[in-house]
Amino acid sequence: MIYDRREHVRLLNQDIVGEHDAILHYLTHAWTVAYQFGPQIEQIAKDEMRHLKWLAHTVVALQGVPDLSIPPVIARAFLDEALESDIKAEMVAIARYREHITIIADRRVQDLLQRIVVDEEDHLHLFHGFRDSQHGEPWGVGNPTESVEDTASRLQLLVSMEYQQVIGYLFSSFIGIHRRSVGMGDEDYAVDEMKHLGWIGQQMANLGQTPLFGDSISAHEESEMAQYLNVRKWARECQHQLLPMLDRIIQHERYQMQNKAADGWTVGTP
Ligand SMILES: [Fe+2]
Ligand SMILES: [Fe+2]
Ligand SMILES: [Fe+2]
Ligand SMILES: [Fe+2]
Repeated sequence: MIYDRREHVRLLNQDIVGEHDAILHYLTHAWTVAYQFGPQIEQIAKDEMRHLKWLAHTVVALQGVPDLSIPPVIARAFLDEALESDIKAEMVAIARYREHITIIADRRVQDLLQRIVVDEEDHLHLFHGFRDSQHGEPWGVGNPTESVEDTASRLQLLVSMEYQQVIGYLFSSFIGIHRRSVGMGDEDYAVDEMKHLGWIGQQMANLGQTPLFGDSISAHEESEMAQYLNVRKWARECQHQLLPMLDRIIQHERYQMQNKAADGWTVGTP
């Protein structure tokens, strides 16, 4: 791979246009034909907005200009048609990111694109779920033999840790020096941790449990990762329906660790 700043900007601008296109289509679907999935699809659109932001920062860091031209929106009259086009959009995006990862010879940009792919794969999974629920296929349910208390206490540990992380990153973002960077910063990490917290809190609420925020426990990234791997091992045995959520979080955490380990890295260094 050769390092070609202009070519990288061109490819990243394709990604920005793809994200922009997804945002407009998803929001339109959430407000119209797919209104029954409105809140969930709006959440997906918010992920795409964050992707667009990270890509735009990266383009600027590479001394390029982000392409914010507005893509045309194709109107859909039927729900299944809209969901099919959303599924296709995610598949196209995943293929395009994977291709760009092989071309762009910047480790940190590659890591960012890989981090975005993690979300796109989950979006694809969610859109499949919306489509299949239209055909009467049930959502996954937990193993009824596993005690609610056991599951809840494992999830509570994660909630406590995530909340410590949210506070820690927010604090860094408030007092930290703003600098030009590739990918995500402390505020983005805080938002990620809030999302993790929300997903786990939702699972606890489904079990009739109330998540608690106050427990102070050690929550540096390494211990967070260790806990997640632990809970994942347990979920593989008896709580399969938690695996997609846990896998997505684990991959987010991995990116955080990588991106921070790359501190001091400058764009373009081989
Ligand atoms: Fe995206
Ligand atoms: Fe997506
Ligand atoms: Fe987290
Ligand atoms: Fe984390």
